Amino acid sequence: MADHPSAFVTGYPIRHSRSPLIHGYWLRQFGLDGSYRAVEVAPDAFEGFIRALQDNGFVGGNVTIPHKEMAFSLCGKRDSAADEIGAVNTLWFENGILRGGNTDAYGFLANLDALSPGWSERRSALVLGAGGASRAVVFALKQRGFTDIRIVNRTVARAQELADRFGIAGGAHGWDALPELLKGASLIVNTTSLGMSGKDELVIDLTGADSDALVTDIVYVPLETPLLRAARSRGLQTADGLGMLLHQAVPGFEHWFGKRPDVTAELRNLVLADM
Ligand code: ATR
Repeated sequence: MADHPSAFVTGYPIRHSRSPLIHGYWLRQFGLDGSYRAVEVAPDAFEGFIRALQDNGFVGGNVTIPHKEMAFSLCGKRDSAADEIGAVNTLWFENGILRGGNTDAYGFLANLDALSPGWSERRSALVLGAGGASRAVVFALKQRGFTDIRIVNRTVARAQELADRFGIAGGAHGWDALPELLKGASLIVNTTSLGMSGKDELVIDLTGADSDALVTDIVYVPLETPLLRAARSRGLQTADGLGMLLHQAVPGFEHWFGKRPDVTAELRNLVLADM
Protein backbone atom coordinates (compact mmCIF):
# COMPACT_ATOMS: atom_id res chain seq x y z
CA MET A 1 0.00 0.00 0.00
CA ALA A 2 1.08 3.58 -0.68
CA ASP A 3 2.67 5.53 2.17
CA HIS A 4 0.00 7.64 3.80
CA PRO A 5 -2.90 6.51 1.55
CA SER A 6 -5.38 9.30 1.12
CA ALA A 7 -9.09 8.94 0.29
CA PHE A 8 -11.86 11.49 -0.23
CA VAL A 9 -15.56 12.08 -0.30
CA THR A 10 -16.78 14.46 -2.94
CA GLY A 11 -20.15 16.04 -3.56
CA TYR A 12 -21.61 19.48 -4.12
CA PRO A 13 -22.18 20.63 -1.43
CA ILE A 14 -20.26 18.27 0.86
CA ARG A 15 -19.93 20.02 4.23
CA HIS A 16 -22.67 17.95 5.91
CA SER A 17 -21.05 14.62 5.08
CA ARG A 18 -20.46 12.31 8.05
CA SER A 19 -18.03 10.17 6.05
CA PRO A 20 -14.82 11.91 7.29
CA LEU A 21 -15.93 11.21 10.87
CA ILE A 22 -16.61 7.54 10.10
CA HIS A 23 -13.38 6.84 8.19
CA GLY A 24 -11.34 8.99 10.58
CA TYR A 25 -12.60 6.83 13.46
CA TRP A 26 -11.58 3.61 11.68
CA LEU A 27 -8.17 5.01 10.69
CA ARG A 28 -7.50 5.83 14.36
CA GLN A 29 -8.86 2.48 15.49
CA PHE A 30 -6.43 0.60 13.24
CA GLY A 31 -3.61 3.07 13.95
CA LEU A 32 -3.16 3.60 10.20
CA ASP A 33 -1.10 6.35 8.67
CA GLY A 34 -3.79 7.35 6.16
CA SER A 35 -6.29 10.14 5.70
CA TYR A 36 -9.82 10.72 4.46
CA ARG A 37 -11.18 14.16 3.70
CA ALA A 38 -14.12 15.98 2.15
CA VAL A 39 -13.43 17.73 -1.15
CA GLU A 40 -16.12 19.95 -2.61
CA VAL A 41 -16.16 19.71 -6.40
CA ALA A 42 -18.63 21.59 -8.63
CA PRO A 43 -20.30 19.51 -11.38
CA ASP A 44 -18.33 21.13 -14.22
CA ALA A 45 -15.02 20.34 -12.46
CA PHE A 46 -15.87 16.73 -11.57
CA GLU A 47 -14.42 15.02 -14.61
CA GLY A 48 -11.10 16.87 -14.20
CA PHE A 49 -11.03 15.95 -10.51
CA ILE A 50 -11.51 12.26 -11.31
CA ARG A 51 -8.90 12.22 -14.08
CA ALA A 52 -6.31 13.72 -11.72
CA LEU A 53 -6.99 11.40 -8.76
CA GLN A 54 -3.75 9.45 -8.87
CA ASP A 55 -1.67 12.54 -9.66
CA ASN A 56 -3.17 14.08 -6.53
CA GLY A 57 -2.20 11.07 -4.46
CA PHE A 58 -5.67 9.60 -3.87
CA VAL A 59 -6.17 5.83 -3.59
CA GLY A 60 -9.92 6.28 -4.08
CA GLY A 61 -12.93 7.74 -2.39
CA ASN A 62 -16.66 8.21 -2.10
CA VAL A 63 -18.90 10.09 -4.44
CA THR A 64 -22.24 11.56 -3.49
CA ILE A 65 -24.93 13.86 -4.90
CA PRO A 66 -24.79 15.16 -7.62
CA HIS A 67 -21.84 13.12 -8.96
CA LYS A 68 -22.98 9.48 -8.69
CA GLU A 69 -24.14 9.13 -12.30
CA MET A 70 -21.11 10.97 -13.72
CA ALA A 71 -18.81 8.72 -11.66
CA PHE A 72 -20.63 5.75 -13.18
CA SER A 73 -19.67 6.82 -16.69
CA LEU A 74 -16.08 7.80 -15.84
CA CYS A 75 -14.77 4.62 -14.26
CA GLY A 76 -13.06 1.91 -16.26
CA LYS A 77 -14.79 -1.03 -14.61
CA ARG A 78 -17.81 -1.33 -12.36
CA ASP A 79 -19.13 -3.94 -9.97
CA SER A 80 -22.48 -5.57 -10.69
CA ALA A 81 -24.29 -3.54 -8.00
CA ALA A 82 -23.21 -0.27 -9.64
CA ASP A 83 -24.27 -1.57 -13.05
CA GLU A 84 -27.68 -2.66 -11.79
CA ILE A 85 -28.31 0.48 -9.74
CA GLY A 86 -26.91 2.84 -12.39
CA ALA A 87 -24.82 4.86 -9.92
CA VAL A 88 -21.36 4.68 -8.35
CA ASN A 89 -20.67 5.78 -4.77
CA THR A 90 -17.23 4.23 -4.20
CA LEU A 91 -14.08 4.48 -6.33
CA TRP A 92 -10.77 2.66 -5.99
CA PHE A 93 -7.83 1.65 -8.16
CA GLU A 94 -7.05 -1.91 -9.11
CA ASN A 95 -3.99 -2.54 -11.30
CA GLY A 96 -4.05 1.13 -12.26
CA ILE A 97 -7.67 0.99 -13.45
CA LEU A 98 -10.31 3.12 -11.77
CA ARG A 99 -13.01 0.82 -10.43
CA GLY A 100 -16.49 1.93 -9.42
CA GLY A 101 -18.83 0.23 -7.01
CA ASN A 102 -22.11 0.88 -5.29
CA THR A 103 -22.19 -0.07 -1.60
CA ASP A 104 -25.69 1.18 -0.77
CA ALA A 105 -27.36 -2.19 -1.32
CA TYR A 106 -24.66 -3.90 0.76
CA GLY A 107 -25.14 -1.30 3.53
CA PHE A 108 -28.89 -1.77 3.51
CA LEU A 109 -28.65 -5.57 3.88
CA ALA A 110 -25.74 -5.56 6.35
CA ASN A 111 -27.55 -3.15 8.65
CA LEU A 112 -30.69 -5.27 8.79
CA ASP A 113 -28.64 -8.46 9.17
CA ALA A 114 -26.87 -6.91 12.17
CA LEU A 115 -30.02 -5.57 13.82
CA SER A 116 -32.45 -8.34 13.10
CA PRO A 117 -30.90 -11.66 12.14
CA GLY A 118 -33.35 -13.70 10.09
CA TRP A 119 -35.25 -10.60 8.92
CA SER A 120 -35.25 -11.79 5.30
CA GLU A 121 -36.76 -15.23 5.85
CA ARG A 122 -40.20 -14.00 4.75
CA ARG A 123 -39.45 -12.48 1.39
CA SER A 124 -42.17 -9.89 0.82
CA ALA A 125 -41.40 -6.19 0.87
CA LEU A 126 -43.19 -2.89 0.48
CA VAL A 127 -40.88 -0.15 -0.82
CA LEU A 128 -42.02 3.47 -0.57
CA GLY A 129 -40.43 5.69 -3.25
CA ALA A 130 -38.88 5.07 -6.65
CA GLY A 131 -35.80 7.34 -6.84
CA GLY A 132 -32.10 6.50 -6.72
CA ALA A 133 -32.20 5.22 -3.15
CA SER A 134 -35.11 2.97 -4.02
CA ARG A 135 -33.12 1.44 -6.89
CA ALA A 136 -30.42 0.37 -4.44
CA VAL A 137 -32.98 -1.08 -2.02
CA VAL A 138 -34.90 -2.97 -4.71
CA PHE A 139 -31.64 -4.35 -6.11
CA ALA A 140 -30.65 -5.46 -2.59
CA LEU A 141 -33.98 -7.19 -2.04
CA LYS A 142 -33.76 -8.99 -5.38
CA GLN A 143 -30.23 -10.07 -4.55
CA ARG A 144 -31.48 -11.49 -1.23
CA GLY A 145 -34.11 -13.53 -3.04
CA PHE A 146 -37.22 -11.48 -2.32
CA THR A 147 -39.97 -12.69 -4.61
CA ASP A 148 -42.75 -10.30 -3.63
CA ILE A 149 -41.74 -6.64 -3.96
CA ARG A 150 -44.32 -3.88 -4.16
CA ILE A 151 -43.22 -0.34 -5.01
CA VAL A 152 -45.39 2.63 -4.07
CA ASN A 153 -44.65 6.05 -5.50
CA ARG A 154 -46.32 9.42 -6.01
CA THR A 155 -45.36 9.26 -9.70
CA VAL A 156 -46.54 5.78 -10.64
CA ALA A 157 -44.65 5.88 -13.97
CA ARG A 158 -41.36 6.01 -12.01
CA ALA A 159 -42.40 3.02 -9.91
CA GLN A 160 -43.27 1.22 -13.14
CA GLU A 161 -39.88 2.03 -14.63
CA LEU A 162 -38.18 0.59 -11.55
CA ALA A 163 -40.39 -2.51 -11.54
CA ASP A 164 -39.57 -3.07 -15.23
CA ARG A 165 -35.85 -2.59 -14.61
CA PHE A 166 -35.85 -5.38 -12.02
CA GLY A 167 -38.47 -7.61 -13.64
CA ILE A 168 -41.15 -7.18 -10.97
CA ALA A 169 -44.43 -7.84 -12.70
CA GLY A 170 -47.39 -5.98 -11.18
CA GLY A 171 -45.08 -4.29 -8.67
CA ALA A 172 -45.84 -0.59 -9.33
CA HIS A 173 -48.51 1.26 -7.37
CA GLY A 174 -49.71 4.70 -6.29
CA TRP A 175 -50.09 5.73 -2.64
CA ASP A 176 -53.84 5.01 -2.73
CA ALA A 177 -53.04 1.28 -2.86
CA LEU A 178 -51.08 1.44 0.41
CA PRO A 179 -53.70 0.05 2.87
CA GLU A 180 -54.07 -3.07 0.75
CA LEU A 181 -50.33 -3.45 0.09
CA LEU A 182 -49.38 -3.27 3.78
CA LYS A 183 -51.02 -6.65 4.40
CA GLY A 184 -48.57 -9.49 4.14
CA ALA A 185 -45.42 -7.31 3.83
CA SER A 186 -42.66 -8.60 6.10
CA LEU A 187 -40.54 -5.50 5.43
CA ILE A 188 -41.66 -1.89 4.94
CA VAL A 189 -38.96 0.52 3.71
CA ASN A 190 -39.17 4.28 3.22
CA THR A 191 -36.77 5.43 0.51
CA THR A 192 -38.43 8.79 -0.13
CA SER A 193 -37.09 12.02 1.29
CA LEU A 194 -40.30 12.44 3.27
CA GLY A 195 -39.72 12.63 7.02
CA MET A 196 -36.29 14.18 6.61
CA SER A 197 -35.69 17.40 8.62
CA GLY A 198 -37.05 20.32 6.62
CA LYS A 199 -39.19 18.12 4.32
CA ASP A 200 -42.84 17.12 4.57
CA GLU A 201 -43.68 14.38 7.05
CA LEU A 202 -44.43 10.91 5.82
CA VAL A 203 -47.98 10.45 7.03
CA ILE A 204 -48.75 6.77 6.89
CA ASP A 205 -51.35 4.69 8.62
CA LEU A 206 -49.83 1.33 9.51
CA THR A 207 -53.17 -0.24 10.48
CA GLY A 208 -53.25 -3.54 8.65
CA ALA A 209 -49.47 -4.09 8.70
CA ASP A 210 -48.48 -7.56 9.92
CA SER A 211 -47.54 -7.59 13.61
CA ASP A 212 -44.13 -9.14 12.79
CA ALA A 213 -43.27 -6.63 10.03
CA LEU A 214 -39.92 -4.87 10.21
CA VAL A 215 -40.11 -1.16 9.38
CA THR A 216 -37.04 0.74 8.21
CA ASP A 217 -36.25 4.20 6.91
CA ILE A 218 -33.25 5.32 4.92
CA VAL A 219 -33.69 8.83 6.34
CA TYR A 220 -31.47 9.31 9.42
CA VAL A 221 -31.93 13.00 10.20
CA PRO A 222 -33.90 12.85 12.43
CA LEU A 223 -33.02 9.40 13.68
CA GLU A 224 -36.58 8.71 14.73
CA THR A 225 -38.64 9.60 11.66
CA PRO A 226 -42.43 9.91 11.82
CA LEU A 227 -42.64 6.50 10.09
CA LEU A 228 -40.46 4.79 12.69
CA ARG A 229 -42.35 6.51 15.51
CA ALA A 230 -45.66 5.28 14.07
CA ALA A 231 -44.22 1.76 13.74
CA ARG A 232 -42.91 1.72 17.30
CA SER A 233 -46.22 2.93 18.68
CA ARG A 234 -47.82 -0.11 17.04
CA GLY A 235 -45.21 -2.39 18.58
CA LEU A 236 -43.53 -3.15 15.23
CA GLN A 237 -39.81 -3.81 14.97
CA THR A 238 -37.82 -0.89 13.49
CA ALA A 239 -34.38 -0.15 12.04
CA ASP A 240 -33.21 3.44 11.59
CA GLY A 241 -31.26 4.80 8.61
CA LEU A 242 -27.99 5.58 10.40
CA GLY A 243 -26.98 1.92 10.41
CA MET A 244 -27.18 1.75 6.61
CA LEU A 245 -24.93 4.82 6.33
CA LEU A 246 -22.33 3.24 8.62
CA HIS A 247 -22.41 -0.18 6.96
CA GLN A 248 -22.20 1.18 3.39
CA ALA A 249 -18.85 2.76 4.33
CA VAL A 250 -17.21 -0.59 5.19
CA PRO A 251 -16.29 -1.88 1.68
CA GLY A 252 -14.68 1.43 0.66
CA PHE A 253 -12.45 1.51 3.72
CA GLU A 254 -11.34 -2.03 3.00
CA HIS A 255 -10.51 -1.17 -0.64
CA TRP A 256 -8.44 1.88 0.27
CA PHE A 257 -6.77 0.90 3.51
CA GLY A 258 -6.71 -2.91 3.36
CA LYS A 259 -8.55 -3.60 6.62
CA ARG A 260 -12.16 -4.56 7.14
CA PRO A 261 -13.63 -2.28 9.82
CA ASP A 262 -16.47 -2.98 12.26
CA VAL A 263 -19.57 -0.89 12.78
CA THR A 264 -19.38 -0.46 16.54
CA ALA A 265 -21.73 1.16 19.05
CA GLU A 266 -18.92 3.63 19.76
CA LEU A 267 -18.85 4.71 16.10
CA ARG A 268 -22.60 5.08 16.05
CA ASN A 269 -22.48 7.26 19.18
CA LEU A 270 -19.72 9.38 17.68
CA VAL A 271 -21.81 10.13 14.60
CA LEU A 272 -24.93 10.70 16.71
CA ALA A 273 -23.06 13.24 18.84
CA ASP A 274 -22.29 15.17 15.65
CA MET A 275 -25.93 15.36 14.53
P1 ATR B 1 -33.16 9.78 -4.12
O1 ATR B 1 -32.12 9.62 -5.16
O2 ATR B 1 -32.65 10.24 -2.80
O3 ATR B 1 -34.03 8.57 -3.98
P2 ATR B 1 -35.04 11.20 -5.82
O4 ATR B 1 -34.58 10.45 -7.01
O5 ATR B 1 -35.28 12.65 -5.94
O6 ATR B 1 -34.03 11.05 -4.62
O7 ATR B 1 -36.37 10.48 -5.25
C1 ATR B 1 -37.08 10.99 -4.18
C2 ATR B 1 -38.27 10.06 -3.88
O8 ATR B 1 -39.07 10.72 -2.89
C3 ATR B 1 -39.18 9.81 -5.07
O9 ATR B 1 -39.78 8.55 -4.91
C4 ATR B 1 -40.21 10.93 -4.92
O10 ATR B 1 -41.44 10.68 -5.54
P3 ATR B 1 -41.65 11.12 -7.10
O11 ATR B 1 -40.92 10.10 -7.92
O12 ATR B 1 -43.12 11.09 -7.30
O13 ATR B 1 -41.05 12.51 -7.22
C5 ATR B 1 -40.39 10.93 -3.42
N1 ATR B 1 -40.93 12.19 -2.92
C6 ATR B 1 -40.25 13.35 -2.73
N2 ATR B 1 -41.08 14.30 -2.26
C7 ATR B 1 -42.31 13.74 -2.16
C8 ATR B 1 -43.60 14.20 -1.71
N3 ATR B 1 -43.78 15.46 -1.28
N4 ATR B 1 -44.62 13.32 -1.73
C9 ATR B 1 -44.46 12.04 -2.16
N5 ATR B 1 -43.27 11.55 -2.59
C10 ATR B 1 -42.22 12.38 -2.58
